Amino acid sequence: MTQQIPQSEIQSISQLTQSPDIIQNLRNLSERYPGEVVFSTSFSWEDQAITHFIFNEALNIQVFTLDTGRLFAETYSTWSRTLEKYNRTITAYYPNSLTLQQFVAEKGPNSFYESVDNRKQCCFIRKVEPLQRALKNKKIWITGIRAEHSPNRGDMQPVEWDGANTIVKYHPLLHWTTTEVKALINDNNIPYNPLHDKGFVSIGCAPCTRAIKPGEDFRAGRWWWEDTAKKECGLHVHGENVKM
Ligand code: ADX
Ligand code: SF4
Repeated sequence: MTQQIPQSEIQSISQLTQSPDIIQNLRNLSERYPGEVVFSTSFSWEDQAITHFIFNEALNIQVFTLDTGRLFAETYSTWSRTLEKYNRTITAYYPNSLTLQQFVAEKGPNSFYESVDNRKQCCFIRKVEPLQRALKNKKIWITGIRAEHSPNRGDMQPVEWDGANTIVKYHPLLHWTTTEVKALINDNNIPYNPLHDKGFVSIGCAPCTRAIKPGEDFRAGRWWWEDTAKKECGLHVHGENVKM
């Protein structure tokens, strides 16, 4: 299907995010598009840094998470500690209960280990469909993606058009290093997922994430049993995106 890409709007959003000061960029977007800017958090340390900017500055940006029901206990405790520190709302989106019930009844609770198709179906039910609901009627989706995360994220731009979700994405920390993110977390006493101190770099669902060894690719711990170079869950479909 040919879709209309709102080039001039993408340009103006790009203009609003040119400051070296990320907080200024986030403020610009929230003031220009009130009620239409959302941020998705998985409670990773880069996401916690962005949450800190938004909550500390009381920016008009809705923070949401996709609770797959299979997250680590440590992720839920990071979520709780974040609510305690900032006393602000994080909206959780859940899988459709009937769809999930049927999927688990048909395939069992851990079918993702059996085939890539099952794994993608699980990711669709638990993450992608709830994401579509979270992004409905929104204009800008902020994420914590960093270029270091995976080779196919290296050529991304901070502002890009997401054709799959028909929304503009902004990745404020795209070019930040792990050292910079950690320093911000430490300097501001921001709660973070304790799994990061145990070799977990990119943290998703518990059954699908393991720690990595020094020197391993950042995403080696995600869906590690799958023999594919492009292990994405469908949240971020780069091949279809138009870069600015
Ligand atoms: S994924 O596509 O492999 O799962 P990744 O873990 O790299 O994504 O995270 C990249 C960004 O996607 C995060 O910074 C966050 O903005 C968003 N994200 C990933 N998982 C979730 C989740 N469960 N809930 C909300 N946002 C998420
Ligand atoms: Fe399901 Fe694993 Fe995808 Fe989580 S990461 S939604 S448990 S397949």
